Amino acid sequence: MSVTTDVSVAVAALSQGKLCAIPTETVYGLAANALDPAAVARVFEAKERPADHPLIVHVASAKDVAQWITNLPQWAMTLIEQVWPGPLTIVGSRTALASDAVTGGQDTVAVRVPSHPIAQKVLNEVKANGVLGLVAPSANRFGHVSPTSSRHVVADLGQYLDTHQDLILEGGECQVGLESTIVLAVDEFPVILRPGAITSDDILRITGIAVAESLSAVPRVSGALDSHYSPIAKVVLITDPAQIDQTNAGFLALVEIDTPSGVHRLAAPRNLEEYAHQLYSALRSADDLSLETIYVIPPSGTGLAQAINDRLQRAAY
Ligand code: TXA
Ligand code: MG
Repeated sequence: MSVTTDVSVAVAALSQGKLCAIPTETVYGLAANALDPAAVARVFEAKERPADHPLIVHVASAKDVAQWITNLPQWAMTLIEQVWPGPLTIVGSRTALASDAVTGGQDTVAVRVPSHPIAQKVLNEVKANGVLGLVAPSANRFGHVSPTSSRHVVADLGQYLDTHQDLILEGGECQVGLESTIVLAVDEFPVILRPGAITSDDILRITGIAVAESLSAVPRVSGALDSHYSPIAKVVLITDPAQIDQTNAGFLALVEIDTPSGVHRLAAPRNLEEYAHQLYSALRSADDLSLETIYVIPPSGTGLAQAINDRLQRAAY
């Protein structure tokens, strides 16, 4: 495995059935040709991901969605037109192109058009080589924190990728820092399966349809396992810095909350966007410092705060 900045090298590798971690605006994904069963199998192996956890197919443009999903409701078409390319994944009824290996045997498939310019370039160029979509689960070992820089990918997957064949494409820090919002689009109303930067308010504003609140009886989402997005350090959610009774612990909160004495400030985001952007590298840096505990004051509010809280609760579980 080597790290490259050369998109054409990444495109050649992916077109030949090799794995390549690619940057997206949300997190880095471990990409492979979605139509190459051997390559898809190697993605599961490298991540140590259970086979029944489905993958997201990444495509170059909204026009490509019809190859993978059929019978999309009108509200979903409207949403796609407004938001793609962007941090939104649509789960819909699969076409014959979506294999069981990709969907985990479900009759739905997840599709997304990322906006990161490098991801866009990769997807357009592999498409020119006949690759109709790339699976790209977050490029971390199963259950761990998603990577928001190439360094994180090396740390997590470096030893599990093929030394001579697989690649990591350098693309800087991911801007959003949280995985895409996943929306189930098989019914007359949207259901959010995983909250993200595209919020239920955004969906209501764009489609005019309220988002269903219930998360029960929806298909399995691996990020929805109770424990997920976890660093090695124990994550403890608090409301007041006075609750910290340890030194040599990490601390994460908005900048206006002062650092208690004796603890390591892991990040001091000024707003929700920065909180999301810095969250995963803050959690990882605690492990780099061998800290036992990370105390976190979660942000309050709706929208992006809900997505941040979702990840924090799973990290703390
Ligand atoms: O932002 C993202 O979505 C990133 C970047 C790399 O694109 N990818 C990502 O992939 O987060 P992954 O595999 O770590 O998470 C994909 C989620 C999983 O929780 C999976 O269960 C869910 O999507 N998923 C995939 N197909 C599904 C389906 N047919 N029904 C329900 N959930 C599905
Ligand atoms: Mg993941």
